[in-house]
Amino acid sequence: MDAPSQLNEVVLSQAVVGPLTRAAIFLVLCIRQDADAYTRLRAFCADLSGLIRAVDFRDVEAGLACVAGFGSDAWAKLFGAPRPAELHSFQEIRSGARCAVSTPGDIFFHIRAKRMDLCFELATQIMDNIGDVVAVTDEVHGFRYFDDRDVLGFVDGTENPRGDAARDAAIVGSEDPAFAGGSYVIVQKYLHDLKAWNALPVETQERIVGRRKLSDVELSDADKPAYAHNALTTIEENGRQLQILRDNMPFGRPGHSEFGTYFIGYSRTPRITERMLENMFIGNPPGNYDRLLDFSRPVTGSLFFVPSATFLDNVTAARPDAAKSTDMPSAPSQSPLPSPAILPAPVAVLHTSLRIGSLKGEKDE
Ligand code: HEM
Repeated sequence: MDAPSQLNEVVLSQAVVGPLTRAAIFLVLCIRQDADAYTRLRAFCADLSGLIRAVDFRDVEAGLACVAGFGSDAWAKLFGAPRPAELHSFQEIRSGARCAVSTPGDIFFHIRAKRMDLCFELATQIMDNIGDVVAVTDEVHGFRYFDDRDVLGFVDGTENPRGDAARDAAIVGSEDPAFAGGSYVIVQKYLHDLKAWNALPVETQERIVGRRKLSDVELSDADKPAYAHNALTTIEENGRQLQILRDNMPFGRPGHSEFGTYFIGYSRTPRITERMLENMFIGNPPGNYDRLLDFSRPVTGSLFFVPSATFLDNVTAARPDAAKSTDMPSAPSQSPLPSPAILPAPVAVLHTSLRIGSLKGEKDE
C-alpha cells in the first residue's frame, strides 16, 4: 500500500473487497429503542477496528475481515446528516408467486475468515459489546462448499469482478464525495427446495443457471435461454456491463431439510442490484423471470450502507446534531476529484483488502 502524502485526505474503505474465504457469519441486528442504545452504538463504532485487530492478531494468516453496514432508519438516528445519497430501505418486489421480501435490519455485520473459529470469536466479542442494546433478527453461518459451489451444485462467483474492477463496482467514488470509500450492500437469505431441484435433469438446471454444472463453462448464446440467471443479471448501460461484487455463501441444516444460499451483493449504487432483482422477480421483459425462483425463495431482504473505515473510526458517542459541526469525520470533499458518476473511486480512497482499516493502527498488507 502506498504511503499517503497527506493523511487528512486519505479515506480507508472497510474490507468490502476481499478474497473468498472458507467461512462467514452474517449478522442482522435491530437497535432497541432507547436513547442510551444509540450513544452506546456510536461509541462502539470507533472501537470496532480495534476489536477486529485483537481477534485477527490471534492468527493473522486466517485473513479475518469484518464489514459493518447500517440501514436507512438507523443511519438517521445514529449519524444524522449528511447521509449517503442513495441510502433507503429495501423495497419489496412482488410478481405472481415470487416475492423479494423486505425485512427489518438496522446494523449488519459480514464477518469472513479462512477459519470459522475466528468468525465465531469476533461475532461473540461484538455481541458481548452491544448485545444488550440490539435484538438479533438473523444470524447465518456460511461455509464454502467444495469448489466454490452453492448447494444447488453450481460454481457461484465465477463472473465476479476482480482487482480494480471489483473496487470500481463496489466502492463509492466521486459521485458522493462525503461518502467516498463506502459501499451499498443488499443481502437476502434464500431457502431452496433441493428435492425438487435435484429432480430436474442436469441440462434443465444448466439452462436455468446459464452455465454447465460440472465444468462451470458458460452456455453459448445459442444454448442459453433468455430466462437464464446469468442472462437476467447481466445489466448493460451504454455498451458497458454494470457489475456488483458478490460473496454468496451456502448454509443449512440437513437435519431440518434446510438448504440455503445467503446472497450478498456490494455495489457503489444500490440501483444496479435492484435492477438485477427486478429482472429476476418481475422478468425482462416482464414474465421472463428467473426460474431459480421456482426452487428458491428469499426469507429476508435488507439494504445497508457500509461507511468507510475512516468514518467509523471518527464516530463519537455524542448525538449527531451535536457532533455534526465538530466531531463527524470530515469528508474528502475538497479533494480534486473527477465528476462522472460511474468512474473509479478517487485516489484518496485506500482499500483494505483483508481487514477493516484504521488510521490508528493499519497493518501493511
Ligand atoms: C438463490 C440465490 C442465488 C444463487 C444460488 C445464485 C447462483 C449463481 C450462479 C451459480 C451464478 C453463475 C456463476 C457466477 O458467475 O457467479 C450466478 C451468477 C450471477 N448472479 Fe447469482 N445467484 C443467486 C442470487 C442472485 C441475486 C439475488 C443476484 C442479484 C441481485 C445475483 C447476481 C448474479 C450475477 C450478477 C451473476 C453473474 C452474471 C454474469 O455476469 O455472468 N444472483 N449466480
